[in-house]
Amino acid sequence: MEHPEPSDIEVRQVSPEDAGDMMTFLLTHYYPEEPLTVGTSPPEPETADKEFLLSNVPFGTCFMAFLDGRIVGAVVAGPKDIHEPEHLAEEAKKHAGSKWGRILHLLSAVESASDVCRRFNVPSSLHVHALGVDKEQRGRNLGARLMTAVAQRARDLGHPLVCVDCTSVFSARLVQRLGYQLVNTLRYEDHLDASGQQVIRPPPPHESVQTFVLQL
Ligand SMILES: CC(C)(COP(=O)(O)OP(=O)(O)OC[C@H]1O[C@@H](n2cnc3c(N)ncnc32)[C@H](O)[C@@H]1OP(=O)(O)O)[C@@H](O)C(=O)NCCC(=O)NCCS
Repeated sequence: MEHPEPSDIEVRQVSPEDAGDMMTFLLTHYYPEEPLTVGTSPPEPETADKEFLLSNVPFGTCFMAFLDGRIVGAVVAGPKDIHEPEHLAEEAKKHAGSKWGRILHLLSAVESASDVCRRFNVPSSLHVHALGVDKEQRGRNLGARLMTAVAQRARDLGHPLVCVDCTSVFSARLVQRLGYQLVNTLRYEDHLDASGQQVIRPPPPHESVQTFVLQL
């Protein structure tokens, strides 16, 4: 297949009017492969998960990549502050017993261990919650372009950091190439519930959640 030149790709901020199209894209190209979503049943993301991603649109921190007017990539990001570990622990408790609750159980453990705002002694960070590229367009640097748009927006908003919990080996490699610094690794096999069961079981090659930070 003939691949487009990167200049054919346009990256734009997601407006509230675009939010529905962004979710349709994520349901096709992000959720069916995202390791946390795939690693716990049922396969479909829950409403609370989708609502959480959509709640980030009003911050103006979400971006989509377009090719000939068609969405080929999306990134969802939003601000967090030093209270994020406590906030996520509460959210995980609130959603306990559901798929979204199991995902939050793991993300809460990751946030407590990485604790990036306290670790870097900064008041806030822009956190990347989701990144997806059209299967047909992978390997063309679209993920990197979307992450660069997020970093630029973080600078404009005065956030000293961009942070991402890479649940996939592919996103981890991508941000390492962009100069992100690894601050924490949690292996899926080491994250257990109260009865000693592994909470999330993603398929290979995904083995861990790696938290990366870019200092701006
Ligand atoms: C993470 C993601 C956005 C990266 O896509 P991308 O920006 O196209 O990635 P890159 O440009 O860095 O690709 C580098 C190489 O990895 C390959 N690659 C990227 N994602 C891949 C995937 N999910 N499966 C297999 N190969 C993949 C590319 O084809 C490319 O290979 P090449 O060098 O032989 O051409 C993409 O994998 C994706 O949408 N995954 C599904 C959702 C997900 O898991 N998101 C991350 C959660 S944190």
